[in-house]
Parts: sequence; structure tokens; C-alpha cells
Amino acid sequence: MLVIVKETSRQMSAEAAEIVANRLRKKPNLVIGFATGSTPLGLYKLLVRMHKEDGLDFSKVTTFNLDEYVGLPPSHEASYGRYMRQHLFRHLNIPEQSIHLPDGMADDVDAHCEWYEEEIRKAGGIDLQILGIGANGHIAFNEPGSSLGSRTRIKTLAGTTLRDNARFFKRRQDLPKYAITMGVGTIMDAKEILLLATGRGKAEALRAAVEGPITAQCPASIVQLHRKVFIVLDKDAASKLAGSYPDSWHSSLLLER
Ligand code: PGA
Repeated sequence: MLVIVKETSRQMSAEAAEIVANRLRKKPNLVIGFATGSTPLGLYKLLVRMHKEDGLDFSKVTTFNLDEYVGLPPSHEASYGRYMRQHLFRHLNIPEQSIHLPDGMADDVDAHCEWYEEEIRKAGGIDLQILGIGANGHIAFNEPGSSLGSRTRIKTLAGTTLRDNARFFKRRQDLPKYAITMGVGTIMDAKEILLLATGRGKAEALRAAVEGPITAQCPASIVQLHRKVFIVLDKDAASKLAGSYPDSWHSSLLLER
């Protein structure tokens, strides 16, 4: 587990972009797991810039998103499908058929979840999974108490998550109660994980995830068992960590891992 603490969220995004670009240059057909939310927006801006200005090529990439709200069509302003198109996909050259998002409108949710897992397997597994973390320690929509071996499935959203995400919905009553989410086990199968967090609101969750016991009460703590995880934070998100962590690592180490 490599924890790196940057001074600002902008620097966190730059570090994360360097890792993603490095992996993509080494493996043009990278299978990337994408996250939504506020945290990766800076990273996505930089990836778009690297594509437009430096020719970073996404044409052979396959993508899988972590989650989607149940009952929201991709046209809904708060859907993650819309978020991904708006912030990333319409700016990059990823072929449409290589993009996978859970379908919040699926008629048979269980069959859809099985199909999603199968697609990940057929793609050869996720090479690099980008992750945020909820203030309650969730990863994707694996809320506290989620099975640490879980696969893609429907989950009830925690009250804390509903409160945190209400800002994305014009009307509170439109907030979905359920989501389709990759499981903790699905996420742990990724060959590398890049977990990002900024701000004091995440500090307690980070303390629990990085330095606390591994527990389903903080699903993010499972990453302590992963062989290749990068955790890139700004200093506010790292403010409750007891250990001291570097603000950079030698690039040869980055390339090796
Ligand atoms: P955020 O969400 O990036 O909007 O803080 C992260 C999460 O809930 O996983």
C-alpha cells in the first residue's frame, strides 16, 4: 500500500493523472475502472488535456464504471452515465462498445449484474481501478456492513450517502434509494487500485481505511489486503493519519509497480 500525501487537491489530481497515463502508455489496451463523484473530476480534466494536447491515446481502452443509481436513465442529470459522458467520454477517443456502465434501468437487475461481471472477466479483468471513498468509508456503493467478498449487485443506499449526494439532485424526493454497484470482491480483483480523497470530510474515513482494522464497517479498509494499491490524498484528507507518509515517490518505483 503506497500512501502519498500532496499539499493540495490539484496536486493530488496531477499525481493520479501521472499514474493513469503511465499505465496507459505501458499498456494501450488498458482496462480501466472509473469512479464518479467530485473527487476524480480534476484527474479527468487532466486526462482530457493529456489526450488533446499530448496525444494520450484511449482508442484501445476498455472501461467499467463502478456504479449507477437504480431508476435513473442515462439522460438524467444526476446519472453516472451522464456524468461520464460529460466529463470524460465525449472528450476522449474510447470506442462506444468498449464503455461499460451498470444500467440503472435494467429490467432484470440480477441478470444484468451477472452480465456485468462476465463482461469484466471477458475483458481480462480490470487493470487499474480508480476509487473514491465515502465519508462513511464506502467504496463504490458498498456501504458499511457490505460483504467484503461481494460481487456486482443491487444495494440500498445508506442514509449518510443519501445526505452526501443530495447536492446532485434538484428535488430531494428524486434521490434514488438503490444503486447497482460493483462488489468489494469485484474491486479487489482489479490488478491495481488508485484510491483518491481530498478534504477534511474524508479524514476520518481515511484514518479508518488506512490505519484501522479491516472491517466491513469500513469497506475501504479491505484495500489493506490488496497487493498494489496507491492511495493519493491531499493534506486535509490525510490530517487524521498517525503515520508519516511521503509527498512523492521515486518515479522508478512508480514504473516498477
Ligand atoms: P465524492 O464521492 O468524490 O463526491 O466525495 C466519493 C464516494 O462517495 O465514493
